[in-house]
Amino acid sequence: MYGKGEPGRVAEAFEIGDFKPGVRAKTRCDLMGAPPYSEAEGMLVRRFLTSAHDEALKTLAFWMEEAGMSARRDHAGNLVGRYEGATLGAPALLVGSHIDSVRNGGRYDGALGVMLGIDVVEALARAGRRLPFAVEVIAFGDEEGSRFPASMTCSRAVAGTVDPSVMEMTDGDGVSLAQAFAAFALDPTRLEEAARKPGEVFAFLEAHIEQGPVLEAEGLALGVVTAIAAQKRLMVRFAGVAGHAGTTPMNLRKDPGPAAAEAILALERICSGGKDGLVGTVGRITALPGAFNVIPGAVEYSMDVRAEVAATRDAAVEAVTAEIHAIAARRGLEASVTLMQDLAASPCDPGLTALLEDAVAATGQAPRRLPSGAGHDAMVIADLCPTAMLFIRCEGGISHNPREAVTEADCALAATAMLHFIDQLERRERA
Ligand code: GLV
Ligand code: MN
Ligand code: MN
Repeated sequence: MYGKGEPGRVAEAFEIGDFKPGVRAKTRCDLMGAPPYSEAEGMLVRRFLTSAHDEALKTLAFWMEEAGMSARRDHAGNLVGRYEGATLGAPALLVGSHIDSVRNGGRYDGALGVMLGIDVVEALARAGRRLPFAVEVIAFGDEEGSRFPASMTCSRAVAGTVDPSVMEMTDGDGVSLAQAFAAFALDPTRLEEAARKPGEVFAFLEAHIEQGPVLEAEGLALGVVTAIAAQKRLMVRFAGVAGHAGTTPMNLRKDPGPAAAEAILALERICSGGKDGLVGTVGRITALPGAFNVIPGAVEYSMDVRAEVAATRDAAVEAVTAEIHAIAARRGLEASVTLMQDLAASPCDPGLTALLEDAVAATGQAPRRLPSGAGHDAMVIADLCPTAMLFIRCEGGISHNPREAVTEADCALAATAMLHFIDQLERRERA
């Protein structure tokens, strides 16, 4: 019903008059790439519980209502739009992604999945369709963890797996999550009330840019995710003795800087030799107190380690931790490695994944299965209900970068595939 695609035929996207689902979604992501939806001029940075986040939610709520949904903010700072099914209060298919960004990020990472959800619901509403289930579109507030050290607090709250002690985390300015909640008119003591009750939500569909080069290399617009890699976030700290950069001879220093450099090279070496898509990244390094003319007293850095198999990831973390302690001992320094977050690998649901493959095939594109090295809210929502993920090709596979780019045609095809997926689900529910 949405486009005439059969496997092997030319892909064709769904349109109603001048409303082109997916194309509009892209335009809306572009609009949200600048203030007031970004905290800064000239770049996109939309962190959790900032005024840019608030502005984005206000506009999204307006768009959700215009599309035929009722919109509400939950106790975790997520925005949820609901399009009722044929029966009021029916269990919902949850569709969405995150609306926060990394610093100087791209316009489509997360946001595109939210905007596609709104377009898809509007297509259903314009066609006057009521399904045997409700459709809810969700904009998660904190997938990236770009303000506070742990990520996915919002999807964890929805899945009912959040630990209320997260409220004690502080951002780079020393503001606690509890304080940020209060400033956003949220009650930090009610975080856990964002949890959905069993049976309220029966499936989750997340559409997201691939953030990698596989689809582009194969000339494909869409991919179907099989599983999301396991990841760990750790903080490493080497502590020595701060001193004068001009007066302290090299052999009398306890400088944590070169120790950190050695340890970062060890991470690169260990991960480069790994299997199962093992990767390790140091994305943030801080020398303290941080001055040209001061030997640092401490160096802290983040480590992000991922692999499709948790045991492979854990073996790499163990090996690098041993190296860190050995380097510290050799150089007479203190070292600590603190686990900040541990996300299990998350397979997508085989049944939903098969439906999504059929939906992609119905657009005329051969279905392509692939794993995700990037983390997604879907890996957390898997504790609540079965999940499926649709990947959309992005230019050069570039992401977490302002050069992130997608085409209108691919976004239109993604919306069409999502509508086919909903058709398949409807057929399954009615069978
Ligand atoms: C989110 O983008 C992540 O993979 O860390
Ligand atoms: Mn991201
Ligand atoms: Mn993302």
